[in-house]
Amino acid sequence: MTDSTPAPLVSIRGLSREFGSRSGLFSSPRVLRAVSDVSLDIPRGKVTGVVGESGCGKSTLARLALCLIDASEGSVRFEGVDLASLNGGQLRKLRRRMQMVFQDPYSAIDPRYTIREALLEPFRIQGVGLSAAEAGTKVEHLLDIVGLSVTIADNYPHQLSGGQKQRVGIARALALDPSFLVLDEPTASLDVSIQAQIIALLERLRRDLGLTYLFISHDLGLVRYFCDSIVVMYLGRIVEILPSAESRPRHPYTRALVESTFEPDPTLRRVVTKLSGEIPSAFNLPAGCAFAARCEHASDLCRTERPELSKDRHDHAIACHHPID
Ligand SMILES: Nc1ncnc2c1ncn2[C@@H]1O[C@H](COP(=O)(O)OP(=O)(O)OP(=O)(O)O)[C@@H](O)[C@H]1O
Ligand code: SF4
Ligand SMILES: [Mg+2]
Repeated sequence: MTDSTPAPLVSIRGLSREFGSRSGLFSSPRVLRAVSDVSLDIPRGKVTGVVGESGCGKSTLARLALCLIDASEGSVRFEGVDLASLNGGQLRKLRRRMQMVFQDPYSAIDPRYTIREALLEPFRIQGVGLSAAEAGTKVEHLLDIVGLSVTIADNYPHQLSGGQKQRVGIARALALDPSFLVLDEPTASLDVSIQAQIIALLERLRRDLGLTYLFISHDLGLVRYFCDSIVVMYLGRIVEILPSAESRPRHPYTRALVESTFEPDPTLRRVVTKLSGEIPSAFNLPAGCAFAARCEHASDLCRTERPELSKDRHDHAIACHHPID
């Protein structure tokens, strides 16, 4: 490793996660690979975006990266430490450094807690004792850095707007001074104008606090705006990693995503309208490229041999037998 390529904050290798499912009481269990053989380095101080259609495994990858669920295979290293090698206490301690912000701020904050209680909960969970004065200062500081007035501290979540609630969700994630935040569609449930404010807030916080983000979204436009590099997933696998937001996609799936228009109706927002063809069942993936049934460039090779992810000379990784120039 040279000085120009500092060690990544998070290093994911060969990560897979399977889920079992039974369609009926007497049917045999079926196995779905939600995340399949994912390897990824997340560089410090940068925003790594993950994009893909609903069900492609983004949230599962997020939970695996934070060791919130166990992997079926593979490893996650945080600052070089393999999370699987830690005991419960060590993992809990490391959790202070890696936090998650969820899409739905309504479910992330307990409705019975005041905002003050919600912001102090992470300290309680971690066993960090705070005096009343310290707790007051923490709450004030956390509300201040996310642009909220301290006057809301004794309100309940239902008294806040969606945008305010998401700011509280971010403040709560920042309570223990983490270095890594996984943001799982943090603006997907918000109006467009509020989305822009939350993105601006996240940008400022990353700069001011030197944070590293894994930013998950189904919206490639937003990811291109906000992220330094972009990981594209399809049916549990990485199909392309764009080394910069300006990189021109070379995978036919990413190209189709770029050309897609997302429905303005939020209930239909996840439908990619320009892509046609059947999405294969995640329970029964084809032998070759999983995108072949929808790909206009598909050849016989594509239908029989799965393309491996490999880098071109611009550090641009693509899993495709016939990448577009
Ligand atoms: N706990 C679980 N049990 C069984 N299947 C699961 C579980 N969690 C996720 N899955 C399945 O794994 C696949 C990936 O789900 P995941 O939530 O990671 O997708 P996603 O990309 O985050 O989708 P979305 O954009 O809708 O949030 C889906 O087919 C989903 O049904
Ligand atoms: S491997 Fe073949 S089917 Fe898959 S995306 Fe590339 S060209 Fe299309
Ligand atoms: Mg998700």
